[in-house]
Amino acid sequence: MTVVYLNGKRVDYGDAKVSVEDRGFQFGDGLYEVVRVYGGRFFYLDRHLERLKKGAREIYLDLDFGLDELKEVCRKAVLDGGFKDASVYIQVTRGAAPRQHNFPANTTCTWVVLVREAKAQPQEYYENGVSAITVPDERWMRCNIKSVQLIPNCIAKEKAKKAGAYEAIFHRGGVVTEASSSNVFIVKNKRLFTHPANNFILHGITRGVVLEIAEKLGVEVVEENFTLDKLFDADEVFVTGTMTEIMPIVKVDGKIIGDGVPGEVTRSIMKEFRELTETVDQ
Ligand code: PDD
Repeated sequence: MTVVYLNGKRVDYGDAKVSVEDRGFQFGDGLYEVVRVYGGRFFYLDRHLERLKKGAREIYLDLDFGLDELKEVCRKAVLDGGFKDASVYIQVTRGAAPRQHNFPANTTCTWVVLVREAKAQPQEYYENGVSAITVPDERWMRCNIKSVQLIPNCIAKEKAKKAGAYEAIFHRGGVVTEASSSNVFIVKNKRLFTHPANNFILHGITRGVVLEIAEKLGVEVVEENFTLDKLFDADEVFVTGTMTEIMPIVKVDGKIIGDGVPGEVTRSIMKEFRELTETVDQ
């Protein structure tokens, strides 16, 4: 079952269509969000909508609907499907217009809310950890914008799949940035390191939640650039994302990380995170 709202109106999945001249289709001129619902409760929807609003400002996109309206549509879509555990995909583009690079003058946004049941990842991934590969970060310089232009991310994820790995970790000239669809953390001597929230990474909502958990647990956080050498030398590595949640990485490019099992700091953060998924409703 998939529930779709197109431009604020419920449509059947098969009838949910946009123009061939939609700028999202032709230029990748749009933004998206993926929000998780646990037990019918939204997990930090407000933070996702705030990021969408910021992204729209960055790309000079006037949202011609209110965030309250979008929020209401998200709620309705989840209720319509009677979903308990779901993923909510939100996409907004600059709309349809005859193809030209300049922004069209009188176009309205195309916006979609699509909800389907979330498939939980295999429990053994969380218990035993998974592997990753490293790849050069070939993306543009504004990765903080959650743009629908994801080709480098898709190529990286495909490389990971071909290598039998779960995720591809990006590095820019040897500095670890993030991963193809998640943020990267390492633990060294009980301290948590992650790339600073600048233009080279997406400011992940889950990343922010992990930083709050670390503070609560009294784990020192260092938001500074770190190199591939530091990644391989880490005691623990994990990646974070809305659908990924907190995933321990125990092998990178075939090299074992730490003891080769999810570490203590990672596990304590995972536990706190799981508790939040059972309570947060905003
Ligand atoms: N991906 N970095 C990248 C490049 C991402 O694509 C994502 C999320 C994240 C984590 O962000 P958040 O914690 O806000 O989900 C980091 C989404 C889920 C996706 O493309 O499906």
